[in-house]
Amino acid sequence: MTERLAENVEKVYGPLVTKTKIIRLRKLPPDVFTPHAYAKKPDAFKPFSDAVLASSGLVVITPEYNGGAPGVLKYFIDMLEFPESFQKRPVCFIGLAAGAWGGLRPVEQLQQIFSYRDAFIYPNRVFIPEVNNNVDKSGVITNEKIAAKIKQQAEGFVKFVVSLKNI
Ligand SMILES: Cc1cc2nc3c(=O)[nH]c(=O)nc-3n(C[C@H](O)[C@H](O)[C@H](O)COP(=O)(O)O)c2cc1C
Repeated sequence: MTERLAENVEKVYGPLVTKTKIIRLRKLPPDVFTPHAYAKKPDAFKPFSDAVLASSGLVVITPEYNGGAPGVLKYFIDMLEFPESFQKRPVCFIGLAAGAWGGLRPVEQLQQIFSYRDAFIYPNRVFIPEVNNNVDKSGVITNEKIAAKIKQQAEGFVKFVVSLKNI
């Protein structure tokens, strides 16, 4: 669901920016999940790491898993280059969940992590509660109010990224 939602969020950014790229954690190479990966990153991880390093801004879309961010997302963060992956990098957040809180918990956990990593955090977050009622199977947001919030966030985040370019 998160990946399909990301594809639709990418469409919102299409007219606003020159280039977009989705980092799909589903595609992480299995070699990343070995104890040796902390000491030496597998070559197959480089495209993932490079995508973060090349970005002007990151839109983090997280589902809620057991009241928090999915373990794989935290592990992905742990695999990235320190400190340059997030330091002074603009980041905004979208949460989704089956329940009523729309990913508030994982988003706030991630804000803490990204703050620790000195990212520039965009304050306007979007939460998608009851995702199975508000997003269809192809990831299209069917709830007009939530779709409007995503568009508003995207427009604001792009301005935020531009304004922080030379800091
Ligand atoms: C392992 C797991 C744990 C989940 N835990 C929660 C939860 O704590 N609260 C909630 O509202 N939804 C929870 N959900 C529902 C997901 O947030 C929701 O289905 C979301 O769309 C999943 O995104 P995905 O399909 O990309 O994994 C959980 C789903 C999974 C698979």
